[in-house]
Amino acid sequence: MTEQQAKARIEELQRVLTQYGHEYYDLDMPTVPDGVYDQLMQELIQLEEQYPSYRQPDSPTQRVGGAIISAFEKVAHDHPMLSLGDTFSQEDLRAFDERVRQGIGENFRYVCELKIDGLAISLKYENGVFVQGATRGNGTIGENITENLKTVRSVPLRLTKPLTLEARGECYMPKRSFNKLNKERAEREENLFANPRNAAAGSLRQLDPKIAASRNLSTFMYALGTNGEEFGLERHSEALDFLQELGFRSNDERRICHNLDEVFAYIDEWTEKRPTLPYEIDGIVIKVDDYHQQQELGNTVKVPRWSIAYKFPAEEVVTTVLDIDLTVGRTGVVTPTAVLEPVLVAGTTVQRASLHNEDIIREKDIRIGDKVIIRKAGDIIPEVKQVLFDQRSEESVAYEMPTHCPACDSELVRLEEEVALRCVNPQCFAQIAEGLAHFVSRNAMNIEGCGEKVVAQLLREGLVKDVSGLYDLNMEELIQLERMGEKSATKLLQAIEASKENSLERLLFGLGIRHVGSKAGKILAEHFETMDALMAATEEELTRIFEIGEKMADSVVTYFANEDVQLLLGRLREAGVNMTYTGKKIDRTDIDSNFNGKTIVLTGKLERLTRQDAKAKIEALGGNVTGSVSKKTDLVIAGAEAGSKLSKAEQLGIEVWDETRLIEELSE
Ligand code: IVH
Repeated sequence: MTEQQAKARIEELQRVLTQYGHEYYDLDMPTVPDGVYDQLMQELIQLEEQYPSYRQPDSPTQRVGGAIISAFEKVAHDHPMLSLGDTFSQEDLRAFDERVRQGIGENFRYVCELKIDGLAISLKYENGVFVQGATRGNGTIGENITENLKTVRSVPLRLTKPLTLEARGECYMPKRSFNKLNKERAEREENLFANPRNAAAGSLRQLDPKIAASRNLSTFMYALGTNGEEFGLERHSEALDFLQELGFRSNDERRICHNLDEVFAYIDEWTEKRPTLPYEIDGIVIKVDDYHQQQELGNTVKVPRWSIAYKFPAEEVVTTVLDIDLTVGRTGVVTPTAVLEPVLVAGTTVQRASLHNEDIIREKDIRIGDKVIIRKAGDIIPEVKQVLFDQRSEESVAYEMPTHCPACDSELVRLEEEVALRCVNPQCFAQIAEGLAHFVSRNAMNIEGCGEKVVAQLLREGLVKDVSGLYDLNMEELIQLERMGEKSATKLLQAIEASKENSLERLLFGLGIRHVGSKAGKILAEHFETMDALMAATEEELTRIFEIGEKMADSVVTYFANEDVQLLLGRLREAGVNMTYTGKKIDRTDIDSNFNGKTIVLTGKLERLTRQDAKAKIEALGGNVTGSVSKKTDLVIAGAEAGSKLSKAEQLGIEVWDETRLIEELSE
């Protein structure tokens, strides 16, 4: 990045972060997720460190908290309400730990706590009576929200002891209340709260306490306003117990940790358990326990040196759309995919996200060069959630889908009532390649050793023109291919040969008839038993089958009426590909086999059978294959290097067979 570019980016970040901060702190209505705010803030901090001359005095990095704009009375805090430094990695935590040890030596311990995602509050008591409740505000001056806090049930109006003190903690809205509130708001067509924290903040900043009272807020208190020495306390963990004794709620999941490894273990544990909590947490807070040691370490202007927050990896992050890539699927559908600047999302690097179709691109107005928020939908599949329009360059232009197929250049069509653009050229290379890859795939003809690269080469070299071509391949042709030795060629030929014996349902699925998945393939094969019978079936006959709908029936009839399809099937038949259903129709009640009705576990490496095969064969004979060994298990098949499942079976006295015995019994 040139200095000029850095300057432009700094200005842009200062502008957008000021805006996002205003929406978040002042309006309780953020337009971007917290993780995104944090990520942009980190980027700005780093750039300003590199180019300090561009750090404006009013840069959002220079602020402690939000502005105070509300109609509430302002109150000055007796002691500043500090914030916490944020860390995002083990490395950062190691550096923090290093600084702590440099400050106070080796003899100390941490307290780890959940970082509750609510808003910080201060509660003041005089002679045990609640007299004032305030928000943190900018850390020095907060808002007086006493009346609202009085409606929160976990805020004691009188302590168990007549003490004068200040307690600090977090006010939050439980997940259930949040969901209920947003549901009600949706019904009334009101704006939804972005998350429970905003909902809590929004509730406490209502002038009418009845509203706060209706919102089911709660609190966890985590500190005294002073460091508690006046009450004879020596450490933070004692203060937490003390707060509980006085009648406050404090969080029970805290843990003393003697070293960083214990801290990491606590973090791992809560990273996993986080979704099961009834309230939101956004990280873990790590604090030096001993008050004297805290004092020795001291504070910076904004944050303590004896404590730090570890923030969970963001599930939503910002990145740049570098390009929009188009792929042509087996059925000719053209799918646009965003090519992204690689970015870490919830622990894995994401560099592509499907954009599904033209309508979605248009609706979200996604353009090449845009800054976008990426999130993992259902935690696995990355998607582009939204464009950050305020960071869009002025030169950017709306994205236009192509009019011609990116693979074969024939004109694309949009079929009626479909959002997708399609290439309808039956000779399209990309479609044939995808179709072939599907034909050989595991649940279809299951031809191993024929991956994407091999498929592409076979087509490019003209060795195969459609799926029937696979059955004409020979050794000579195969070893010409790049990285195809004699050994892999032999294996591939064997796999192709073996696939001829597949039962009809695999072929039906492999042909890629629209709407016919592997389950439908099975139903059709079981019902008609031969390809000829299926080919002769009318739409009416098909829809009479319970699971077959009109759409599928129509698709099947249309498919087999096609002359090219008939020729293709002729070639497959000639090559010796089986066209009958060989999977036996099984009446599970009266099978005479050693497997019938038994619960069986497969473990270890099988050498002669694949797991899938073994499972299928056992199930065909009425057995039920499950994953884990328990008292209910009747039989364990142990392959090579079987481990804990085998020992458990032995402990429970369950019958164990090896693979040879299994094969013998199967062939009986
Ligand atoms: S201690 C000087 N402990 O996180 C230390 N804060 O990002 C003050 N928070 O402003 C904070 N749970 O609103 C502490 N167990 C916890 C916390 C916690 C949530 C919030 C608090 C603070 C913010 C800092």
